[in-house]
Amino acid sequence: MTGSEDARFVLRNARHLAADYMRRTVRPGDTVVDATMGNGQDTLFLCGLVGEAGHVYAFDVQAEAVERTRVRLDGAGVLPRATLLLAGHETMASHVSAGIQAVMFNLGWLPGAQHAVTTLERTTLPAVQAACALLAPGGIVTVCIYPGHEEGRRELAALDRFAASLSPRAYNVLRHEFMNGPDNTPQLLLIQRNT
Ligand SMILES: C[S@@+](CC[C@H](N)C(=O)[O-])C[C@H]1O[C@@H](n2cnc3c(N)ncnc32)[C@H](O)[C@@H]1O
Repeated sequence: MTGSEDARFVLRNARHLAADYMRRTVRPGDTVVDATMGNGQDTLFLCGLVGEAGHVYAFDVQAEAVERTRVRLDGAGVLPRATLLLAGHETMASHVSAGIQAVMFNLGWLPGAQHAVTTLERTTLPAVQAACALLAPGGIVTVCIYPGHEEGRRELAALDRFAASLSPRAYNVLRHEFMNGPDNTPQLLLIQRNT
């Protein structure tokens, strides 16, 4: 999820689009959240964007994910920029104060680990709702959604309903769907707080 600022745009996939929106929105000194830490690639990417003066709160329910991320950030010398929480993202509001610039969700399961621990509609939905409420004006939430499995389709349906119900005065919402791929191609939901 790295890349130079002046590289030409290439339309690749939902994760790359999410990273692109983060690059455009997050500035040094900002506070942001990685809601699904996993192997820590996105946490590391966000640590780079917020710089030494900023902070990244990262969540995962698997100790293995927290440990992999801790090792990755330590190796890159950016561990002090992050708070790694072994906690569900649905508890975000009790760990993070309002006024944050960005929240990044990459749903599904930890690459290279057991598929049994996947994100779930019943916790993803309240977490995305909490994330929207915590944003500063101009702040964004990105959600990469994987409709190739049953729980992913449930998450997509619930997030669609929620996002479509947000007041257009308070939020702008965009869903990116690759139209010429298979039905289960990952999608990106982008929410920006206006006021
Ligand atoms: C697709 S992976 C994330 C990949 C990660 N962003 C990276 O850069 O490697 C999804 C992660 O969400 C985690 N997860 C599942 N339920 C969660 C919850 N309620 N709160 C936070 N993380 C959760 C899984 O344990 C898994 O590590």
